[in-house]
Amino acid sequence: MTIPGLLEGKRAIVTGGVRGIGYAIAEAFAGAGADLIITTTRDPQESAQQIEHLRSFGHEVVAIKLNVSDKAEVSSVLAAAIDETQGVDILVNNAGITRDGLLLRMSEQDWDDVICVDLKSAFNTTQTVLPYMLRKKSGSIINISSVVGQGGNPGQCNYAAAKAGLIGMSLSIAKEMGPKGIRTNCIAPGFIKTAMTEKMPEAVVEDWKKKISLRRAGEPQEVASVALFLASQMSSYINGQVISCCGGITK
Ligand code: NAI
Repeated sequence: MTIPGLLEGKRAIVTGGVRGIGYAIAEAFAGAGADLIITTTRDPQESAQQIEHLRSFGHEVVAIKLNVSDKAEVSSVLAAAIDETQGVDILVNNAGITRDGLLLRMSEQDWDDVICVDLKSAFNTTQTVLPYMLRKKSGSIINISSVVGQGGNPGQCNYAAAKAGLIGMSLSIAKEMGPKGIRTNCIAPGFIKTAMTEKMPEAVVEDWKKKISLRRAGEPQEVASVALFLASQMSSYINGQVISCCGGITK
């Protein structure tokens, strides 16, 4: 769902914006009138169809190949894209990975990879984007955390640590940047139908569904609606909050 005109004249960065939740957010923003900078891990040509669809809403869509966990790459490539498009109003830190395993068997590599892509990436992008928002004295930063960062999950201590870290980071940035007119909030999705959850074993999926009051998985578009709200002036007095989008998960 989108609201035409809601983001007219705004430019948004969405990391990992060509599939899953990131794509749904990019689509909702484009439908609301925003210009977009979306990042992909591969050559943007490989996502030509998705990019064309986003452009069909009639606004500018710049797609850049970017590894968000690489600070130097983010500083140069993302800053260059913003310079070319003249500023940014909204940043959605959506890119994320899982490398699941019980703590006792988890490799150091799996720990480091998840912390880097799911947490350090937000440091990389936010530090790059903030000077542009400071110049405008406004901005909305939306970090995609997870209910796992709030409640933990066996087999996901690396992911839970990263997503909990993202919440702590967001609350701190909200306090640092609130006085400058820049809002920072988190969305904590529950179980959403994307490539990330597709690879989960059936038994784990069924177990999750039993815990969801609405008794179904969420759609990426349902998370995108929350992002649209947080990106827009409809949430102008919301800062430093975590909004769960999980169908009511019981412990
Ligand atoms: P997905 O696997 O479809 O999308 C992840 C995106 O992150 C992809 O576009 C991928 O290219 C990008 N990405 C991965 N590594 C990257 C890197 N190093 N640099 C740049 N981009 C990179 O998964 P999904 O479900 O759409 O996930 C989106 C976000 O939502 C993630 O942060 C995930 O942790 C979070 N989330 C997902 C939930 C779900 O149930 N699907 C639940 C809670 C949170």
